[in-house]
Amino acid sequence: MSMIKDYIQSNQDRFLEELFTLLRFPSISADPKYKEDIIKTAEFVAQKLKDAGADNVEVCPTAGNPIVYGEKIIAPNLPTVLVYGHYDVQPADPIELWDTPPFEPTIRDGKIYARGAADDKGQFYMHVKAFEYMMSQNELSCNIKFMIEGEEEVGSANLGTFVKENKERLTNDVIVISDTSMISMEQPSLETGLRGLSYVEVEVTGPNRDLHSGVYGGAVANPATILAKLIASLHDENNHITIPGFYDDVIELTESERDALNKAPFDIEVYKKDLQVTDVWGEKGYTTIERTGIRPTLEVNGIWGGYIGEGAKTVLPSKAYAKISMRLVPNQDSNRITELFKNHFEKIAPSSVKVEVKPHHGGEPVVTPTDSIAYKAAEKALEEAFKKKPIPTRGGGSIPIVALFEKELQSKTVLLGFGLDSDNLHSPNEKYGIENYLKGIETIPSFFKHFAELSK
Ligand code: BES
Ligand code: MN
Ligand code: MN
Repeated sequence: MSMIKDYIQSNQDRFLEELFTLLRFPSISADPKYKEDIIKTAEFVAQKLKDAGADNVEVCPTAGNPIVYGEKIIAPNLPTVLVYGHYDVQPADPIELWDTPPFEPTIRDGKIYARGAADDKGQFYMHVKAFEYMMSQNELSCNIKFMIEGEEEVGSANLGTFVKENKERLTNDVIVISDTSMISMEQPSLETGLRGLSYVEVEVTGPNRDLHSGVYGGAVANPATILAKLIASLHDENNHITIPGFYDDVIELTESERDALNKAPFDIEVYKKDLQVTDVWGEKGYTTIERTGIRPTLEVNGIWGGYIGEGAKTVLPSKAYAKISMRLVPNQDSNRITELFKNHFEKIAPSSVKVEVKPHHGGEPVVTPTDSIAYKAAEKALEEAFKKKPIPTRGGGSIPIVALFEKELQSKTVLLGFGLDSDNLHSPNEKYGIENYLKGIETIPSFFKHFAELSK
């Protein structure tokens, strides 16, 4: 057996136990109530980096949640890998839909169930353990820097400043991120793009107070009805987005690029069955793979207003609200799209209501190269571990800070993700396969080896 497999086998229980400890911290960044847990999580990550052999480990304070930094610089002439990940997680609710408590990791059918299991604790921790292995064998072949943040799930508001203020410390030859999915354990893949994001909240105001719906209904505009109509009008009969100018900057792929993407194994019947939907939906003229990978989309993330308690209350609400996000593709610009949305939404609103559009965080799309040394090293490492050559895919999710890394640090990213789309990210019963976790730990040292060799 190879050294790494042997090491993983003899340390497997400890690797799982440590991840479980990490998963027990409810490091929810969206809710300030968890601030202390956030700090404890950052301190735990820092301790584990130290234990594995990192130098200059620091829990760096920011205006928000701290960033954990650590490094091992072995020689100035060797290439440097910057590992980015996030220790914060999404809220667990609706908590009643979890089969086991979100912060008590539980193994079922070879999967670890816990909030953050795949996104991103289970994934970034693979790097800490792979680093431990390389240090223990004296086989670290590149300089390594870790930057693990605590605000990814809320838009990384303070990471940009940290990066700009620490450019020197963060210099690298490649950024490696394990925070995406691959196709399956049988077909490894590398995501080569992340979509951008524009996120807005809209507020529709009708009368100055809630009204009796019998006394006033039919005579005064109902903000909930108007909001529903406005939202419905944002897609046309072909499910194209109707905001003028929305598609102006979209880079269309060539036929051969589209063909290549659609060659990825994908079974629409399995997809529908998994989600228990009778049909898929989306922009006419594009496949499901294209709709989630290379096309921009607009989704309502939440919509509310009026009476939503037990029983019935006859009321005409004064206000209605929605949270709406748009996923962007190269070469769309999130500020411009937010502006287009705002202008359009205000324009289509009838004079009987007032609308307000409030922008939230955003981020730019990125495409990562497939002809770089780092990509080739990742391909080789995955092929060794999975006995099959990985294929490039375009992911639907966003890691908004990646575009900023590339701009500020002038280096490219490799998205070396080991999750699966079915891991229930952001949903109840989030999970991560033990096999995925251990395969990740096995693959990473081989990436370092190949990256060092190809960099010579
Ligand atoms: N890890 C995800 C992004 C992701 C998931 C990329 C699956 C590719 C495949 C990340 O933690 C995330 O959830 N990002 C958010 C954006 C953020 C601003 C809240 C997203 O994509 O919604
Ligand atoms: Mn993530
Ligand atoms: Mn996430």
